[in-house]
Amino acid sequence: MGFRYETKEFNLSGDRYLQAGGDPKVPSIPVIHDSEIQELRTFDAIYLGAVGHPDIAPGILEKGLLLKLRFTLDQYINLRPVKLYPGVWTPLKDKGSDDIDFVVVRENTEGIYTGMGGVQYKDTPQEVSTQINCTTRFGAERAIRYAFEFCRRRNSRKRMVTLVHKTNVLTYAGDTWFRAFNEIGEKEYPDIKRDYNHVDACCMWFVKNPEYYDVLVTDNIFGDIITDLAAIIQGGLGVAAGGNLNPKGVSMYEPMGGSAPKYTGKNVINPIAAIAAMAMLLRETGSHSNDAQLTEAGNRVEAAIMAVTPMMKSQAAGQMGYSTTQVGDLVVRAVRQS
Ligand code: IPM
Ligand code: MN
Repeated sequence: MGFRYETKEFNLSGDRYLQAGGDPKVPSIPVIHDSEIQELRTFDAIYLGAVGHPDIAPGILEKGLLLKLRFTLDQYINLRPVKLYPGVWTPLKDKGSDDIDFVVVRENTEGIYTGMGGVQYKDTPQEVSTQINCTTRFGAERAIRYAFEFCRRRNSRKRMVTLVHKTNVLTYAGDTWFRAFNEIGEKEYPDIKRDYNHVDACCMWFVKNPEYYDVLVTDNIFGDIITDLAAIIQGGLGVAAGGNLNPKGVSMYEPMGGSAPKYTGKNVINPIAAIAAMAMLLRETGSHSNDAQLTEAGNRVEAAIMAVTPMMKSQAAGQMGYSTTQVGDLVVRAVRQS
């Protein structure tokens, strides 16, 4: 595609954690070392494999690796394109690829993900736990600005950003988001329509009329939840990819699904999500560094995916009509022919 690149592989696996003496039940040693994070800072982009290990308790790798990197590298945007590729089955009746094409911009470093709070009187009938929703105007503003900018770049007919929150109950945090959204939108992005949904209503409308949406912006936990709903309407975890972005730092791209250990080594898993993560890596790295060639490469990979999905029987593991490597080869061929 006319550019040179270098890669370096980092083994940050669950196996490594266990071999280094990590406790499979509670976090005991770092999953990733500070020196490795320092080294990752020197790269243009990070391509992250699926996270999860069958013998390690949930949370250890998620927090020790994924959340650790998001927070340390200040990847404050989680970008989730929701696009139903041609020929992909959606559980939504009467909806097709023209109807399901929107982008969720999820705040990725704040909210209830910061770990603020605690537990008192643990394991007694008086146990009390708090989990603080840490919302800052700064964090909301940068996510909101990113969403408006993204909407401008995307330049769809709808040209609309929908803020998703729960302002009727979360009257403090929701209000910070709501005022920031309207003030920034009015002053800096008068060319873009502003829209607001409560998160619960948004879930209904994703199912009832997904064609309504263009770009959405929301906080960390609401974004986590609505993007899984979005993933299933775009064909499931076999196709969904996301980016953890720090537009001025190092961004990280990943397939949305976990490691699905029951399929390890069977050559049946759908590689489309991983390939779509690479398409995003190329496109967003190009956009952050103003490198049109990279952006174009990302677009070509995505076009190749769209040429291949109609040939697949299903996007589910083991039911694609092809093996993992065969789907990969089909995409490579489509890129070559483009
Ligand atoms: C996601 C995942 C993560 C999240 C987990 C694995 C910590 O569900 O990227 O959406 O909650 O952010
Ligand atoms: Mn999630």
